[in-house]
Amino acid sequence: MTKRRNDAWLPKWLKAPDAMLQSDSDAKAMLEKYKLPMPNQNLSEVEIGEYIKYFHWADENVEPQQPAAAR
Ligand code: HEM
Repeated sequence: MTKRRNDAWLPKWLKAPDAMLQSDSDAKAMLEKYKLPMPNQNLSEVEIGEYIKYFHWADENVEPQQPAAAR
């Protein structure tokens, strides 16, 4: 996750995916691919910070289940 999206994009997405789906070309491309808008979950700044920390941790510590080409 943190290799595909940077720390400017990720908090904006977690804060307001609904707004990003209107304005951000990467978000629009995901909607085109997955056909389902991610709902805004009213995450707090603290929760968003914890998710970002977790994504960094997971990218360092969790083995992918599929080869990179399939993701
Ligand atoms: C707090 C919980 C959640 C977190 C932390 C989260 C995080 C994310 C992130 C980081 C992405 C970007 C993926 C990428 O760059 O490839 C994403 C995309 C997406 N998420 Fe979530 N998500 C959450 C909850 C949900 C829920 C409840 C749904 C349910 C329907 C959902 C549906 C989607 C979809 C469909 C996408 C693809 C983009 C789009 O079509 O809008 N997410 N999510």
